[in-house]
Amino acid sequence: MKHLIAPSLLASDFGKLNEEIQLVNDSEADWLHFDVMDGHFVPNISFGFPILKAAKAVCTKPIDVHLMISNPELYVQRYIDAGADVVTVHVEACPHLHRVLQMIHEGGAKAGVALNPHTSVSSIEHVLEDLDLICLMSVNPGFGGQKFIYQTIPKIRELKARLVERNLNCHIEIDGGVGLQNAEQILKAGATVLVAGSAVFRSDNPRETIKELKHCLDDTILA
Ligand code: DX5
Ligand code: ZN
Repeated sequence: MKHLIAPSLLASDFGKLNEEIQLVNDSEADWLHFDVMDGHFVPNISFGFPILKAAKAVCTKPIDVHLMISNPELYVQRYIDAGADVVTVHVEACPHLHRVLQMIHEGGAKAGVALNPHTSVSSIEHVLEDLDLICLMSVNPGFGGQKFIYQTIPKIRELKARLVERNLNCHIEIDGGVGLQNAEQILKAGATVLVAGSAVFRSDNPRETIKELKHCLDDTILA
């Protein structure tokens, strides 16, 4: 299956959210990535339910909600009601991760878990069967526009090997510092979803950048 592209709304111009989402609608993007930060789990605050609801009214693609918040179990249902198609919680914020994943599925959304750069793949060993997506953070969460942490590459390979071994086809999503300069390497390591904020919205031609990210492996095959 071809990899998916999920532009991150965090890097868009908030003064024209409708146009920015329209741009994603009219592009080859597969999902819209929506970053929720609470000022507690991460040292930054982004957007909440009303903005998600407004985005959902305009967006024609599935919305991939990344909850960088403490106690996500208190809010997952409200994010699903506001329009989340995929809900990703952080393993570091969930002492009862299995229960939270069940809540997400019961609420009717796909369930994901995100791992901070220092968190080992083995931390989710016993919930792999319960996941639709694993997000490996390739920056420390909280801010867009940071530099990709290259130790993520062997981590992707390690996770991919575990999924293959157990015959699971859960998505591997990479979030942070992703762009045309490293997309090919990330995908070859085994990633299936690329989140890209600044690389897309700070580009001179966001639609074209999305297209290039979507097809960056095709050229390799032709070359
Ligand atoms: C970071 C967020 C990312 C962010 C990525 O905490 O989870 O989704 O928007 O932005 P870039 O692609 O600019 O690193
Ligand atoms: Zn994110």
